[in-house]
Amino acid sequence: MDNDKKLVVFYSLQGNTRFIAEEIKKNIGCDLLEIKLKKNIKSKGFMKYLIGGIQAITNKKPELLPYEINLDDYKTIIIGTPIWAGHFSPAINSFLSENEIRNKNIAAYCCFAGSGSGKAFKILKEILQDDNTFIGELEIQDPLKTDKDGVSLKVNKWLDKIMNKSVSA
Ligand SMILES: Cc1cc2nc3c(=O)[nH]c(=O)nc-3n(C[C@H](O)[C@H](O)[C@H](O)COP(=O)(O)O)c2cc1C
Repeated sequence: MDNDKKLVVFYSLQGNTRFIAEEIKKNIGCDLLEIKLKKNIKSKGFMKYLIGGIQAITNKKPELLPYEINLDDYKTIIIGTPIWAGHFSPAINSFLSENEIRNKNIAAYCCFAGSGSGKAFKILKEILQDDNTFIGELEIQDPLKTDKDGVSLKVNKWLDKIMNKSVSA
């Protein structure tokens, strides 16, 4: 096993979180795992806020499309999620409940529109902190609507900082 291998696991409804995952890959050469909902919510229209927001607040774990990953291959896992009603997205909730994540360096980033990361990092830490080393968190406002160079710089600075904190096995 390559003990320095890194994975970004992310969910993205509208592309922002995917954009950041790709930035991270450009910078540190990690693997990407995009998880998808079996029944995705429509990305257009107001109803998505209601349906997705309720799912997030009520801690739903919607079914994911099949994916292949062996987490044993990785020492560092970066979790990427959009903020839904102040929480991480339900797809991430599903992923965390179907995978046992232990002895990893964990970082997390979120994309949000206006209100910031809400409870997302706090809850992620509650779930993962005891069995893993939490190395950092980053919130980014809708990157697809902002200056891409500025976003790149922010992501790359963050990566420099957190990769110094990671513990190698
Ligand atoms: C169901 C739903 C709920 C959302 N709730 C919030 C929120 O509570 N706070 C916020 O700042 N943005 C919220 N947003 C906006 C997204 O977090 C934001 O646009 C993010 O960049 C989208 O990432 P994506 O393009 O990867 O899906 C919400 C979006 C959706 C679809």
